[in-house]
Amino acid sequence: VAERSLVLIKPDAVRRGLVGEIIGRLERKGLAIDAMRLRTMDVALADQHYAEHVERDFYPPLRDFMTSGDLVALVVSGDEAIAVIRNLIGSTDGRKAAPGSIRGDFSLSNRENLVHASDSVDSAKREISLWFPELAE
Ligand code: CMP
Repeated sequence: VAERSLVLIKPDAVRRGLVGEIIGRLERKGLAIDAMRLRTMDVALADQHYAEHVERDFYPPLRDFMTSGDLVALVVSGDEAIAVIRNLIGSTDGRKAAPGSIRGDFSLSNRENLVHASDSVDSAKREISLWFPELAE
């Protein structure tokens, strides 16, 4: 089933020069880039994007990190794109993510873990409408 996912290449990846590496992996997998934009997340957008985490202990440092510099927001599509992308990215903690995944290959952190991707069809819809309102269904 064709799906769309909202992908964020986080500020750590931009600072480390990993944008091309990460987009290249998505492209070589066969996924399509439907939209892409370089921007800085402000606190209001962070609170909306991470609404389900706002009360968590890890949220304040996560918010500070996510608003610390430019990131690259993309809408990526393809067959079963949501699960396919989460597999390519690897599990949340880069220290435990499988080698071969983006986090497994390039991250040693469970906060500065390079990439975000929507975790369900519903969250993809919600996140795409936040980041790319012109593409919202
Ligand atoms: P992401 O896929 O963007 O979704 C929530 C983010 O919160 C996650 O990636 C991590 O960057 C961060 N995160 C999740 N769990 C923790 C944690 N235990 N400690 C610090 N950051 C976390």
